[in-house]
Amino acid sequence: MKILLTGGAGYIGSHTALVLLEAGYEVVALDNLVNSSAESVVRVDKLTGGSVQLVVGDLSDQGLVESALRDGVDAVIHFAGLKAVGESIAQPLRYFSNNVSGSLSLLRAMDATGVRTLAFSSSATVYGEVERLPITEDMPLCAANPYGRTKQQIEQILVDLAGSDDRWHIALLRYFNPVGAHRSGRIGEDPHGVPNNLMPFVAQVAVGRREKLVIYGTDYPTPDGTCIRDYVHVMDLARGHLAALEALPDWPGAHAWNLGTGRGASVWEVLRAFERAVGHDLAHQVGPRRPGDAPVSYADTSRAASDLSWSATHSLDDMCADHWRWQQDNPDGYPG
Ligand code: NAD
Ligand code: UFG
Repeated sequence: MKILLTGGAGYIGSHTALVLLEAGYEVVALDNLVNSSAESVVRVDKLTGGSVQLVVGDLSDQGLVESALRDGVDAVIHFAGLKAVGESIAQPLRYFSNNVSGSLSLLRAMDATGVRTLAFSSSATVYGEVERLPITEDMPLCAANPYGRTKQQIEQILVDLAGSDDRWHIALLRYFNPVGAHRSGRIGEDPHGVPNNLMPFVAQVAVGRREKLVIYGTDYPTPDGTCIRDYVHVMDLARGHLAALEALPDWPGAHAWNLGTGRGASVWEVLRAFERAVGHDLAHQVGPRRPGDAPVSYADTSRAASDLSWSATHSLDDMCADHWRWQQDNPDGYPG
């Protein structure tokens, strides 16, 4: 089986490429490298002894995507997209164009070449503020920012597409908060500029690239006053894609699955766990709330467990230890 990973040089894509190669799949990565480095693919090859075929190009280049698909591809995992919430508020046209129009172009290429099996990188952000917890897949979708709305719109397009033609088999994989790295420390998350997300920021404080963590609010209605999220190890997430690919032949249509641990951790708990990994305290201060943050978010993962036979196995301490190993060994991320 040959799988095309759009965005395959990125954080989650590179870890998934590794898991797929280890499981005996052939992997083609199509990436314009706007938020990644070709070095990640080189390192995946070294770690696995395999070979990812890297196609440097854009999702919107339908001819290029079609020629990649015609080269024996059986299924697509669609990671490619822009993902910074703040940037999406400042540049909505860029986000809708890259994420939504880019996905339409990919889908046209898939339809034209008869490759109709797809796993899509969606996000827990599509749920917005929820009325009850844990979050189940049947809850209404109400994304609260342009980035989230691109995910919600792409999901809707995929549902309509699958409704029009039962040859499509589509997984809408709603990731909660991916963190961590491959335990070798050779591949990991390499955010450009100031990290928006908690764990990469804490990791950069630990390695001396940032002065201190600002905790965005300690007056939330949670046990310790900080927001709670469902952090999931990127290697568990990568295995989730393998599980979805293996299950999809039995699932015509479009189906949503939450990928998380089902457990929440607060900002304080993440900071303390990272300090345990590093072996000393990390500089931090309490700041005001970040607008738009939901107080609590964690997944009901029972659907993925029963339908995909998948569940996360790594603890928060594993996530911090692996994230820290990557950051310590690559303080400035990938070279170049
Ligand atoms: P990432 O930025 O590391 O990977 C995305 C990759 O897509 C990058 O390598 C980028 O260069 C590439 N890309 C972007 N636009 C492209 C285009 N038009 N053509 C070709 N390549 C393009 O991000 P990631 O964390 O690996 O996320 C992967 C996917 O998962 C994204 O769609 C993201 O929205 C989604 N997601 C991520 C998170 C998270 O917290 N990391 C959470 C939920 C969902
Ligand atoms: N936080 C801080 N300080 C920081 C960064 C974050 O206190 O410097 C706090 C946030 O306020 C939040 C928690 O840490 O309470 C987690 O924040 P993240 O940004 O890491 O995660 P979010 O759940 O807020 O959002 C992320 C992505 C979304 C995505 C969502 C679910 O930014 O795009 O995960 O996948 F949709």
